[in-house]
Amino acid sequence: MSEPPVSEVVRQNSEYWERLAPHRHGEPVEFFLGGGSALTDDELAAVGDVRGRRVLQLACSVGDEALTFAQLGADVTAVDIAPSHLATGRAKAEALGLELTFVLQDMMTLDSEITGFDVIYISWGGLCWVPTLTEWTRSVAGRLNPGGVLVISEHHPLWEILTVRGANELSVSGDYFGVDRDGYADPLKAPEITRTLGTPDVPHRSFVWSLSSIVTAVLTAGLTVRSLQEFPVQEMYPGLGEQAMSIPATYLLTASDGGRHA
Ligand SMILES: C[S@@+](CC[C@H](N)C(=O)[O-])C[C@H]1O[C@@H](n2cnc3c(N)ncnc32)[C@H](O)[C@@H]1O
Repeated sequence: MSEPPVSEVVRQNSEYWERLAPHRHGEPVEFFLGGGSALTDDELAAVGDVRGRRVLQLACSVGDEALTFAQLGADVTAVDIAPSHLATGRAKAEALGLELTFVLQDMMTLDSEITGFDVIYISWGGLCWVPTLTEWTRSVAGRLNPGGVLVISEHHPLWEILTVRGANELSVSGDYFGVDRDGYADPLKAPEITRTLGTPDVPHRSFVWSLSSIVTAVLTAGLTVRSLQEFPVQEMYPGLGEQAMSIPATYLLTASDGGRHA
């Protein structure tokens, strides 16, 4: 069977996500009003002061991180393919009195006017929906301002393919080098909402990008890797115990255009 084109993969993924999106709400408005941040301390440190800077969030979902960027004073554009996610984000922005631009777009084929950003950010189950990584990093690199930064803050690909079987017991349930994920062997790796709603009965495809493939794609796009950190998160390996602190669960990569245009 021949491979469907990327546009067809994205169309299917859009339908899949729109089935889930009306049921995903993210943090309540009160969270943000009370000073809550949807960005982690490590992310905030990586991004630096965003006041007055143009930030693009890709695969923004309900926009929680985008709202935090806006609260910090950034000029934010947030992109997603699920209309209901964007509607939720817009409603929260209005309730918070924040002006953000939420745009319904495929992050693989962004309009040419979506460009000129100081920070481009993707996180927490966003990158796994990119079907062709080098194409994506090239597109991102071309939309950064001189000195601008790409920030990828994600589930670690090793976490994606490991399943906890018990205390100190892990098994390999996916293929670290396989890229194209054929469903979720471990339901813990599927979008959290599917644990209550079940899996929408529509085709969808996500991908596991190894760390080397990410770094290679970033470098191929002409960007310079500024930092790459890996973190353990015990709760992401529930039931494994203390050993979970000896393996990575997330990573944070920053890359800049290295002053190409400087
Ligand atoms: C698990 S969410 C991750 C985002 C967010 N950081 C979060 O924690 O909720 C994945 C998002 O990717 C979006 N998505 C998937 N493929 C996309 C594409 N090609 N372009 C834009 N957004 C996409 C989905 O609609 C969904 O909102």
